[in-house]
Amino acid sequence: MSKARTAGNVHLLKHSLVAAKMSVLRDKTTATVQFRCALEQIAILLLTEASKHWPTRATEIETPLAPMTGASLAQPVVFVPILRAGLGLLEGMLRVMPEAEIGHIGLYRDDVTLRPVNYYCRLPARLAQSHVVLLDPMLATGRSATEAVTLLKSQGATSIQFICVVACEIGIEQLRSVHPDIPIYSAAIDPELNEFGYIVPGLGDAGDRYFGTL
Ligand code: URA
Repeated sequence: MSKARTAGNVHLLKHSLVAAKMSVLRDKTTATVQFRCALEQIAILLLTEASKHWPTRATEIETPLAPMTGASLAQPVVFVPILRAGLGLLEGMLRVMPEAEIGHIGLYRDDVTLRPVNYYCRLPARLAQSHVVLLDPMLATGRSATEAVTLLKSQGATSIQFICVVACEIGIEQLRSVHPDIPIYSAAIDPELNEFGYIVPGLGDAGDRYFGTL
């Protein structure tokens, strides 16, 4: 059974299947192909949790046997991966929602200021009417997620969720301090961030492991 432990807008997905797949992701001996599979599967499970209470509209349909009232999602959905590692979550989500629109946000870390700098942003036009799901597997310092949410809001987004695979407290606090209205969904919350900005124990560099660029 799935259970999300919720505290202050942070939803930690407590689920046996997720726990087992997280161990595949975290294991340093996991090859790229298995890493990709596990990340896609975890993405689907996280999306299932995050979408649990999305508003629906009553829709009249007819089954082969009788008319009935069905449901359709009340808002269009936009997935926005933060480049590049966010693309690893996108694959799985598109299996469940191939009709979703997709935006991209590219951020790099300035070596001097250590702050995220936006180098690419392409978002669907009707952002204000859509529900936006922002994707990044690792919520580490939280600065990229914070910047990405700021960007989304400046482009008109009002309904936003953030989905990651591993979060740490520093990252959660950073995002929450600037955007307390944004729900965070994660499969794990790890204790530490090391001096290089990696989550410990974490899973290493999510982008490198997903794209095989180690
Ligand atoms: N980005 C990663 O890919 N891994 C981390 O641990 C932190 C940021």
